[in-house]
This record gives sequence, C-alpha cells and structure tokens, in this order.
Amino acid sequence: MPPASPKPRELTSQKSCTLVFIDECGLGSQLLKGLRRDNQEVITVKVGTYFTQVNESLYTINPQQSNDYEALLNELRAQQKLPETIVHLWNVTPVTQTQSGLAGVEEAQETGFYSLLFLAQALGKQNLSEQLPITIVSNNMQSVTGEEVLSPEKATILGPVKVIPQEYPNISCRSIDVVVPAAGSWQQEKLTEQLLTELRAPISEQLIAYRNHNRWRQSYEAVRLEQSLEEKPRLREEGVYLITGGLGGIGLVLAKHLAKTVRAKLILTGRSTFPAREEWDSWLETHDQTDSTSSKILKVKELEELGAEVLVISADVANLAQMTDAIAQTQKHFGQLNGVIHAAGVPGGGVIQRKTEEETERILAPKVKGTLVLEASLKEVELDFLILTSSMVSILGEFGQVDYAGANAFLDVFTHHKTSEQNSFTLCINWGAWQEVGMAVNTARPKQLQESYIENLQQGILPKEGIDVLMRLLGSKLSQVVVSPTDLPSLLKQHHSDSGLLSQLEKTNILKPKHPRPELSIAYVTPRNEIERKFANILQQLLGIEKVGIYDNFFELGGDSLLSIQVALKAKQTSLQIMPNQLFEHPTIADLAAVAVTLQTINEENMEVENISYSQSSKTEDYTPSDFPQANLTQTELDKFLTKINRKD
Ligand SMILES: NC(=O)c1ccc[n+]([C@@H]2O[C@H](COP(=O)([O-])OP(=O)(O)OC[C@H]3O[C@@H](n4cnc5c(N)ncnc54)[C@H](OP(=O)(O)O)[C@@H]3O)[C@@H](O)[C@H]2O)c1
Repeated sequence: MPPASPKPRELTSQKSCTLVFIDECGLGSQLLKGLRRDNQEVITVKVGTYFTQVNESLYTINPQQSNDYEALLNELRAQQKLPETIVHLWNVTPVTQTQSGLAGVEEAQETGFYSLLFLAQALGKQNLSEQLPITIVSNNMQSVTGEEVLSPEKATILGPVKVIPQEYPNISCRSIDVVVPAAGSWQQEKLTEQLLTELRAPISEQLIAYRNHNRWRQSYEAVRLEQSLEEKPRLREEGVYLITGGLGGIGLVLAKHLAKTVRAKLILTGRSTFPAREEWDSWLETHDQTDSTSSKILKVKELEELGAEVLVISADVANLAQMTDAIAQTQKHFGQLNGVIHAAGVPGGGVIQRKTEEETERILAPKVKGTLVLEASLKEVELDFLILTSSMVSILGEFGQVDYAGANAFLDVFTHHKTSEQNSFTLCINWGAWQEVGMAVNTARPKQLQESYIENLQQGILPKEGIDVLMRLLGSKLSQVVVSPTDLPSLLKQHHSDSGLLSQLEKTNILKPKHPRPELSIAYVTPRNEIERKFANILQQLLGIEKVGIYDNFFELGGDSLLSIQVALKAKQTSLQIMPNQLFEHPTIADLAAVAVTLQTINEENMEVENISYSQSSKTEDYTPSDFPQANLTQTELDKFLTKINRKD
C-alpha cells in the first residue's frame, strides 16, 4: 500500500494540554520535545507502583489500579489541566525484553488492554463533552513487512481502540504501530517527526503502521475462493482432529462435516462436565431432549453413526495442565493428532464503564491464554492445520464488546506471528454472525435491540455456507480471511461514520408507557421544573413506566447502559445535553437535571460556540471552567457565555 501523508492541522496558538503515557524506549521523550515545540503543555505518566506526582509535569500510576487513573484525572482537573489529547505509549517496549507466549501475556494486558480500559472508565467519570483524541502507539504488534518479531499479546489493545469511540461518542482512537529505531539515530528522529505529524492531524484512520519511513494503513481486499481441486483439502481419511469448544454450535457443525467426509477421529473439548459414555443412556432416560447435555449426547451419537470416533474431554483451554492432559489422552487413545480447530469462546457483553476485570478476563481467557496454552501444549506435535475462529467484531468493533473484540484481535495477530515463525498452516477466520447455531443465536440481547438483531441475523452465515467456505479456505494458502455475509467495505464505512448502534437506537421507536410505577423503597416525588419534567417524560417512555419520580433510580427501574444512550439521545432532541455514562453517576431525574447542560448553538464572530446554561444555577459571576466540568470550556468561552446569559437576565 502506498504511503499517504496526513494533512497537518494548523497549529493552535493557544496552549493546550497533552497527556503522554510514556514508554521506556526513549520514543516518548523524543515526542515530548516536539510537542513542547508545538506549544503544548505536556503531562507525562510513567508506570509506577502507586499514584504520585513526581514533579509539576510528571506522575506515576500503577497500571493495575483503576483508581490511579481516576486519581490522576481528578488531580489534573483540579489543576485545570485536563488533557485535550492523549498519547499512550506503554505498548512500546524493548523487543529484547518482550516476553512472548504465556509468560509475557499478563504483563502486556496490564500496560495494554487494561490500561486503556481503566483510562476510558476514568475519562467517563469526568463527564467530558469535548472531542478527545487518543493515540495508542505500540511496536511490533502488526505484521506489515512479514519480518517483524511480533508480540501478539499486545493486540488486545485493538479492542479498546475500536470500541471506546463506539461507547464514548466524544472520544476517538487510533493505533499507530511502529518498529523502534536505535536511540539517537536519524531514523528515530524521522519516526518522531512522522508521529508528530500524525498527532497534529485529526483522527481519520484507526489503524496505522510505520515501517522504514513508510506509512501503512490497514485495508481489505475481496478474494474469490475457488473450489479446491482436491476434494478434501488438508483432510486425512480417519484423521485425528481436536476441536476446542467442540460441543458448541459451530464446533458441532464442523465435527459433523469431518465425520461425514473423512470418518474423523474427533476430540471435542469444553469446560462443562460431560457424562461418561456408560451413563449416556440413563441420562437420556432421565432428562428430556431440551436438556442441553441430552442434546449434546444425541449430537455425539449422531457423529458416531456417521462413522466418527468421538472422545469428549472436559478441559478448560486456558488451563495448561488440563490441556496438556487432554493432548496426552488424545495421543494415548488415537496415537496421533493431525489438526486443531480452536473454537472455544465466550460471548462478550457490557459497556466499558461498568466492566470489571473479572468479567473481562472470562472473555479474554479462552482466546488469548487458550491459544497460548494450545501453542505450548502442542509444541511437539506436527499439525496439518491450526484453525482459529475469530470474529468480525475484531475488525469492526461493537458496542459492549471491548473484551470480545480484543480477544479476537489477539487471534488475528497470533496467526501472523505463527505464520512468520513456522511453515505450518495456520488459518484465522474472522466469521460474521452464524445463523441457526452458536453464540450469535443463543446470546440474549437487550430487548430494545432484539428485534433488529434477529432481522440482521437473517443475513448471517448458514452452517452449510460456513462449511463450504471452510473447505475452500483449507484448499487455499491464505492465513487470515474475513467471512462477511454483507459487503465489508460498506460495513467499515458505516462503522467509521457512526457507531452503527447509535443510529440504530435513534431509529428505535420509543416505547409507550405501559406499566404502573413499581413499589420502590422511595416515595414518588413529582418533577419540580421544566428540565425535570423533560427527563421524567423521557424515562417514562423509555422504561415503559407511567410515572417516574425525581428520586427514582434509573437502574432500579430496569434501566441499562443501552437505555442510557437512548436517554442521552432523546435528551439532546429536547436541547438537554448529558453523556450516556453520566447516568451511572447520576441515576435520578433530580441528579440528571442538576448536571444537564441546556444546549443552544450560537454563531458569534464567525465562530461556532456551544452555549451552555445550568438549570439550577443561582450565581452569575466569578465562574471558572471547573464550575462547568461537562462543558470543558476555556475561560474565554466561558466569559462569552456568561456575558450572553447576563444579557438575557
Ligand atoms: N456463532 C457466531 O456467530 C460466531 C461468529 C464469529 C465468531 N465466532 C467464534 O466461533 C467460536 C465458536 O462459537 P459458537 O458460536 O459455536 O459458540 P458456542 O456455541 O457458545 O460454543 C462455544 C464453546 O466454547 C466452549 N468454551 C468456552 N470457553 C471455553 C474454555 N475456556 N475452554 C474450553 N471450552 C470453552 C463452550 O463450552 P463450555 O461452556 O462447556 O466450556 C462452548 O461449547 C467462538 O470462538 C466464537 O467466538 C462465532
């Protein structure tokens, strides 16, 4: 791809603040000099053991402590130095020190994925409304030339890069991957200038890489997959194949195909316990067919009727001891192992603002740790193929799927790492949603999205289409393929122009109030002013409740993160501005009315200024921008606004 130069933004004469999470490779310190030359006030943050201010412009925080990120931003707010730009360089690490594989994976998440997650959560609590670009610089994460020593464990950061902007409409993110030149070299100087040029430009592309002075951006090319000349490419008659997540929706479809076509010997693994073979009949007698274990037993029996031999093993793919044991059982039972399909996975779900590390870990584990465990436990085994089932969510991102997007992004980059290191066939398939089977069908969705989701799923991949694609891919030499049932370029464009979900929610019809107000611990209190009345109307309609009192808790009444976005969207239509995540901090109408900004756009002196007024404000003089945290105004803008209000008064 030819290099493209970003259009430099005109430098502002006004000093603005940049927050730099600085690396230990010297790249950040070079950037600092350039940023200061650009008239930026720069605050740097280093990895430390606790939150502390080292000097006027340097802090340390412990990356594992979400509170430290909050403390940092609170401190910056107190000093009126909340950043207008953030540059995150904690994923720039010395290549020699990079510990790939299981040993380095946790550390990489702390300074990578979790650092961005905690940063977004802390920013969410600041209720900023101005645009905030975050540039995340990493090294050796993307395969561009094919010659890089890759660190796939860093790739989970692509989850936050894609999903933060979808959940926080005022934040934009881009990932810039580099190879760090020697300190003090002219190449380092050149790269620093290139990064500075990027930072001066608004974010227009999410994934960028610099290699040998060339700028690369990720794009996708449509491929036509011809039917393979071989009837069963890469498959052996009675071959031995391990499918992790093999009793899941997609796992069983693939197992059936292998049973039918080559009478495969199959090892199907999952975490759930599965009855021993001698207990199957009594299980089926005592449970009806809707029981999930019964249905799995019947499916396994069907595989055996088709000519397969099946070994079901309970093993967590993220547990090295369990997987080593599973491989040993396989070797003992079948004498060999010819191919692996890694289909274990857990669907994500839940907005960043409310994510806990524990929930996130559950989603990351099967794909990130699980893949590395497979690599470790299979190092002595020569495979005909290793297939990783990734998802289009790693490409497009999806609201509420930061962990799932990150987990699948790891699979994508791991594939390139594996392919560059070994001559074995590793294939990563970024599937779009499957119809009829699997997690896309079985995952419960919030009620407001369920209808349109089911409609969209009708365009999903049918199991027989999935099999057809897989067989064509097995006959190809491709290492990563996105299987998109709808036109990928249009999807990418749509995701870039809006979050997709936001427009979907905007189109969602407001539910009419249906239910009386439930019994609550608090008595109903009627709205006291126009703003509270507006919020009461919005909540009543969205929650489907006849009367919502000003002290009723939005979440107790059935509100959730998606509804919070709808509240923000509907509020905007009535000229009230709140950010969706403000509902987490201010879940009652009384609280919301106190923090909501009344919008009125004026065009003054050829400059668009967003005018604000506070409903409950009584004082009209001596304001500072920190009195209006949501607006993130400069003193000049605030003065203008106050003059305007005073004039009105
Ligand atoms: N369905 C889709 O539309 C779709 C689209 C794109 C990508 N994918 C990917 O395709 C793969 C298969 O998806 P699916 O739709 O078949 O999902 P599924 O029906 O939910 O099956 C996933 C299976 O993975 C197993 N599993 C989860 N965590 C595990 C762990 N730590 N160790 C071992 N097994 C584990 C689960 O069994 P236990 O609970 O017993 O462990 C389950 O049987 C997933 O990786 C998914 O991300 C699916």
